[in-house]
Amino acid sequence: MHKQQILIAGCGDVGSTLGLALQARGHNVFGLRRTINQLPAGIQGIAGDLADPASLQGRLPPCDILVYCAAASQHDEAGYRSAYLEGLRNVLDALAQPPRLLLFTSSSGVYHQADGSWVNEQSPTHPDRFSGQIMLQAEALALNSGIDATVVRFSGIYGPGRNQLINQVRSGIAAPAQPEHYSNRIHRDDCAGVLRHLIGLYLQGTPLEPLYLASDDVPAPLHEVSQWLAAAMGLEIHTTKLMRRGGSKRCSNALIRASGYHFIYPDYRAGYSALLRDMPAD
Ligand SMILES: NC(=O)c1ccc[n+]([C@@H]2O[C@H](COP(=O)([O-])OP(=O)(O)OC[C@H]3O[C@@H](n4cnc5c(N)ncnc54)[C@H](OP(=O)(O)O)[C@@H]3O)[C@@H](O)[C@H]2O)c1
Repeated sequence: MHKQQILIAGCGDVGSTLGLALQARGHNVFGLRRTINQLPAGIQGIAGDLADPASLQGRLPPCDILVYCAAASQHDEAGYRSAYLEGLRNVLDALAQPPRLLLFTSSSGVYHQADGSWVNEQSPTHPDRFSGQIMLQAEALALNSGIDATVVRFSGIYGPGRNQLINQVRSGIAAPAQPEHYSNRIHRDDCAGVLRHLIGLYLQGTPLEPLYLASDDVPAPLHEVSQWLAAAMGLEIHTTKLMRRGGSKRCSNALIRASGYHFIYPDYRAGYSALLRDMPAD
């Protein structure tokens, strides 16, 4: 396989994990973010602000593949617009030549379904919040860019250093059994794994679908996950509290699995068991 020039714009947790895996396979990987001293060795840093076109002009290397996986650091409408829509437009404008492939990371937050139903790549998306609406606009920008583009919608990302649910359970709080609220997860290593898998397919000449939903095999009520975590840590739950994250729905991963991807952590038990095992004792 030819060595590719790969630019990861918004090279944070998922981007850096992906970048290291690609670099280990001999590719030339550039990571763009504002604080490049946070990048691991092996990823060539490009300091730039996606919101500031002048900081990108003339600074981007020619690339075969662009992975856009910036996350908004400001959680209001302006912050989302800047990180997902304007940032993508600014990178595409700043590249002297368009890449051959664009992968854009999106979110299962684009789905409005809240009745526990299954959703997949064909499901309607009518998000009532600005976050999902802007994400859909950014997806459309990627898909209509004239470049071979694929959107990957991740569900809730968990993994090393992302301990919100573990910390809640540690303080004795679980989600209530009712109303039942389905949650969907994907481990950070599987986010990177899915992106690497798609790049591998593309480089071997297999056409990619325009859209994949990437979530593990087991959508599960938050109540079940938090109770399981409590049992795994040998802790008592003394309070229940609504911990809603998006609408209750179940994300199907049938398409990404049919493309040949094997999840490293197929369910929350596998992923959280590994996290708990590797967590420093306090
Ligand atoms: N969190 C979730 O559960 C979830 C769910 C679904 C989808 N996603 C999506 O998954 C993708 C990967 O997320 P992640 O966990 O890897 O996020 P992350 O660790 O927060 O990384 C995002 C990166 O974007 C960079 N960035 C943000 N604003 C920037 C700007 N203006 N200019 C340059 N770089 C900027 C940040 O670096 P600097 O601060 O150094 O610039 C950071 O390295 C994102 O697209 C996210 O929206 C996340």
